[in-house]
Amino acid sequence: MVRPLFPLNASFAKLPTQWQQTLNRLVDDYNLWTGWDDETMAVTPTTVVGEAIALHQVSKIFNPEHCPCVALNQVSLTIPKGAVQMVVGPSGAGKTTLLLTLAGLLSPTSGRITALGEPLTTFDQDHLEYFRRRYMGLVFQESNLLRSLTALENVEAMIAFRGNRIRIPRHHAKGLLESVGLGNHLRHLPRQLSGGQQQRVAIARALAGYPPLILADEPTASLDSGTGCTVVNLMRQLAHDHGCTVIITTHDTRLIQAGDRIAHINDGVLTLEA
Ligand SMILES: Nc1ncnc2c1ncn2[C@@H]1O[C@H](COP(=O)(O)OP(=O)(O)OP(=O)(O)O)[C@@H](O)[C@H]1O
Ligand SMILES: [Mg+2]
Repeated sequence: MVRPLFPLNASFAKLPTQWQQTLNRLVDDYNLWTGWDDETMAVTPTTVVGEAIALHQVSKIFNPEHCPCVALNQVSLTIPKGAVQMVVGPSGAGKTTLLLTLAGLLSPTSGRITALGEPLTTFDQDHLEYFRRRYMGLVFQESNLLRSLTALENVEAMIAFRGNRIRIPRHHAKGLLESVGLGNHLRHLPRQLSGGQQQRVAIARALAGYPPLILADEPTASLDSGTGCTVVNLMRQLAHDHGCTVIITTHDTRLIQAGDRIAHINDGVLTLEA
């Protein structure tokens, strides 16, 4: 029998059985969303064990027929839950391709990926979308904010979109924006913010609801080094406090020490630092 994860949420019953089973298995195996943090008003994961992400011999070849470009070359990587994994490499090394593939936005040419124990590479598009929305916080190189919404509304909208059980979304969104130094810019529209401020809103949005997986592609590219360190340390704190697993790509070697684990990528080949 499928035990409802969200008994109060009628939409759970409308999900395909396979998805219901995935969600229930995540709750059973990982004990996700079972803690309640009175201070943040968020439902948080309570156990941090096992691996969050595993890539097995993942390759991505663009234009295989005409002008092949091997963006990922047999990449294997295992990231334990609660870890901050830095992936460092120069421009064109394959960092964005790696994160897009992990997020299920690009399909690998070969290889397997599991995320939170789920075989991502076997999921169809709908299942991938659902998994991404519910369990992943994404920061891209462009901030991709909704232009007609304020900073606060952009973060709040993500909480609703993700379906998190956050008691006071506004309180939570405000707290995240304050922690990235934007407490005085809550009502600003994206066009009223600098590039770095927009990037920080995008980071707060990705962290909304403390998703178990946070994938950040050069999140500090448009920030000064002080703000960049603050942002990375915030992600690091979330990993430790809430059991989120964080993957950050960067070409800024000053940020490397903020990671628990460091990998280097060059021409699509990933090597782990001992
Ligand atoms: N859609 C695409 N079609 C063809 N080639 C692509 C595509 N996307 C990326 N590439 C190629 O794959 C390689 C890796 O690109 P990727 O964007 O992953 O690098 P990156 O490490 O993120 O670089 P940067 O630091 O400049 O963002 C590059 O050689 C790039 O030209
Ligand atoms: Mg990139």
